[in-house]
Amino acid sequence: MGRGAKNAKSKVKGQHQSLNSHRRDVVEESESNDDPMSEDSEGSGDSPEDSEARRTVPFRLSMFDFKQCDPKRCSGRRLLKAGLIDEVRVGSKFPGLVLSPTGTKTISPADKGFIEQSGLAVVDCSWNEVSNTPMHRVKAAEHRLLPYLVAANSVNYGKPCYLTCAEALAAGINPFQSFFFQDEYLKKIDAEAASSKQRNIDLPPSESSESSDDDGNDSGDLDGSRKEDKNEVSEMTESVDDFDVDDRLESGFDYEIGQQVLKRGAEASITPCVFLGKKAVLKKRHPKPYRHPTMDSKLNKARLKAELKGIMKARSLGVPTPTVYFVNDNENYIIMERIEGSTAKAWIENRRKNADFEDCLRKLGAQMGRCVAMMHQGTLIHGDLTTSNMVLKADDVDQLVFIDFGLCGQGKNIAEDKAVDLYVLERAIASTHMHSQSLLDEFYKAYEEVDKKQSQAVVKKLEEIRLRGRKRDMIG
Ligand SMILES: Nc1ncnc2c1ncn2[C@@H]1O[C@H](COP(=O)(O)OP(=O)(O)O)[C@@H](O)[C@H]1O
Ligand SMILES: [Mg+2]
Repeated sequence: MGRGAKNAKSKVKGQHQSLNSHRRDVVEESESNDDPMSEDSEGSGDSPEDSEARRTVPFRLSMFDFKQCDPKRCSGRRLLKAGLIDEVRVGSKFPGLVLSPTGTKTISPADKGFIEQSGLAVVDCSWNEVSNTPMHRVKAAEHRLLPYLVAANSVNYGKPCYLTCAEALAAGINPFQSFFFQDEYLKKIDAEAASSKQRNIDLPPSESSESSDDDGNDSGDLDGSRKEDKNEVSEMTESVDDFDVDDRLESGFDYEIGQQVLKRGAEASITPCVFLGKKAVLKKRHPKPYRHPTMDSKLNKARLKAELKGIMKARSLGVPTPTVYFVNDNENYIIMERIEGSTAKAWIENRRKNADFEDCLRKLGAQMGRCVAMMHQGTLIHGDLTTSNMVLKADDVDQLVFIDFGLCGQGKNIAEDKAVDLYVLERAIASTHMHSQSLLDEFYKAYEEVDKKQSQAVVKKLEEIRLRGRKRDMIG
């Protein structure tokens, strides 16, 4: 395998085309077979094409061989056998430039003169053995890394940096050409990005364009502004005609994300957005710098999964939750229905001075108790029952919606788990809302009404937990 690429620092996207064109220079397509690694093409020998090929590379090409690769599949061995390169003994010094991971600089067009004068070498060892290979024994006048190139060989096809010897040599023979193709490729990507930025977002027609549609059907006299409207309508009709479902599926669905984060919770940020014309929020869990990256990524993914499962389960149990519109588990975000209204926390505090405050608290407590009992009956433990994780749709106490299921648990009918859920709620209420005993009283009444047996077992456990909690508080 061609070394040097693995530690490449340069972030230039590789181009198969460049590798292939170089390979033509080196091997001159001596193989009738398309796969240069296949055994059938072996032994093409010293054909007239080979001598032609040698003329196209007017400097020395060499290989340090650690003899770790399967000789039949090793492109370096095959080049050696075809007489296109020579071998440098491991331990002896190569006078030219070697492509090796011990390099500290990436090969560049500035190296061309030196390569032409003194030659180019690669290191052949197995990718699986690379960490055990004594690279210090590869001695040369200059050591270079390869830029970021994507392998086009049949073993590691598509993997960045996993090049064969032939590919590494091809990239090094003419750095100008490699960089030229990379530049071309980057320009193409830039152009694609620029054109996709210009693409119109396909949102449902706004009310104003709907009314202009009506105007458009009216073939009566058109003043200047109406003509403009008509043009807009015809443009809109064109874009609808051009709408290609497959295309749209490939490019992803359109959604407009607001600029400002609505809430930045302990876990995630909540940004308002519009998803296919519906008011939505985007909940994204960001990496936490203080956690180990692997653990952080696992945790975020697990919580996203738990959140989705919890939302689905709660809905199936008749507990209102936002509708999930879109999930991106790579980027750790969910787009879901935006519940317009206040959180239970804000709702309570905003009513504190009202004459009917106690009534409000009782109603809310009863609604909460019913919903939590239904979740528990279905073996769903919310895991973070706080008044910030409940939203009252349109500020209506009968439309209490539960959110934030990232810490939920499911499937175990254990009274202790349910009691812990209630204990978390009790503590959250006590620390957030003063004089809220009536809320809790109504909560437990409603909780019991849904399922008396469950309630008895859970409340018994809850008393134990409260006791434990008090002991812990006393100890500190
Ligand atoms: N679907 C939603 N509709 C309306 N507001 C929401 C929605 N989801 C979250 N929020 C708001 O964002 C806040 C934080 O969201 P939450 O899901 O609880 O995140 P975290 O896990 O960081 O606590 C909530 O307290 C609520 O005010
Ligand atoms: Mg929350």
